[in-house]
Amino acid sequence: MKADEVRKVGVVGCGVMGAGIVEVCSRAGLDVLFVEADPELVERGRRQIEASTLRAVERGKLDERQRTEELTRIAGTTIIDDMADRDLVIEAATEHYDTKREVFRRLDEVTRPEVVLASNTSSIPIVDLAAVTRRPAQVVGMHFFNPAPVMGLIEVVRAITTSDETVEFSRGFGAVLGKTTVLSKDRAGFIVNMLLIPYLNGAIRMLDEGFATREDIDTAVSLGLAHPMGPLQLLDLIGLDTALFVANVLFEEFKEPLFAPPPLLKRMVTAGRLGRKSGSGFLRLHVMSRSFLRLVGRSLTSPRAPGRTPGV
Ligand code: CAA
Repeated sequence: MKADEVRKVGVVGCGVMGAGIVEVCSRAGLDVLFVEADPELVERGRRQIEASTLRAVERGKLDERQRTEELTRIAGTTIIDDMADRDLVIEAATEHYDTKREVFRRLDEVTRPEVVLASNTSSIPIVDLAAVTRRPAQVVGMHFFNPAPVMGLIEVVRAITTSDETVEFSRGFGAVLGKTTVLSKDRAGFIVNMLLIPYLNGAIRMLDEGFATREDIDTAVSLGLAHPMGPLQLLDLIGLDTALFVANVLFEEFKEPLFAPPPLLKRMVTAGRLGRKSGSGFLRLHVMSRSFLRLVGRSLTSPRAPGRTPGV
């Protein structure tokens, strides 16, 4: 199947990234079915998508009629077998090795054999997901950025098992979604996180050492480098637990001290200060932008417990 022939997309997981991917696919006119672990999480996913599309209307990206049509194209389920009629499935389940492997094993069972299975993982080797399927040539990374409806990039990740056709299909599908794709080898961090993690770690160490205040570090980067937000604000957006997880994976793979998570990051995660998703991170809840919470479609609920497998 060619990328522009895809009509029905499946998305596994409807957390921050999954909900964004669902929204992006529906905006491209596709029928989207997402799967979550239980009805409550299906409902939470739907609420996130409703909030984010409302934001798009408020910001003039969509009109009300388009929003209604977009929401009509989206459905949620708790049963992974419902992915059977999908032309492409993008997995955005929790960043947990065994969970993702189980999702890929099940997707391989239930989808048509020619269907491409993509993962939004930011740290797990694509080849490890390909290895549990009978179609390793059709398993690929499609790494979106947060907030997915706004960010223009997808990293397409080619494992040693991924075929040229699957890479071409994935890049074509990125274009269908209106995104720019870049191609990365299947090694921890791909392109963006490989550059991002040392930078974020550096900002945390700077704060911990009392080199500058949180506000001044963020202001320096926002105004001095014209980034849309400073590193500590960005950590709150990404989620400190996610940043810690990615830093650990990178350090494990390369043993490069710049990737080693700073002690303050570990302490913050242990304390449950995970950023916007928990209502408190480097910025406290009361100074977090409510409008931004709406942008990413988040309510102030606690994050999903790790290791739950959507629809399995
Ligand atoms: N659909 C489409 N567009 C939407 C939208 C939606 N649901 N919601 C908002 N928008 C649009 C708005 O219309 C606006 O567009 P214009 O600039 O054309 O008006 C734009 O998105 C920004 O929205 P806001 O003005 O409401 O928000 P903001 O100015 O506060 O910007 C931000 C928020 C886009 C997040 C910006 O701060 C930013 O780019 N931050 C950096 C984000 C980043 O670096 N993300 C990558 C994280 S790393 C990662 O994800 C990888 C990993 O593995 C860890």
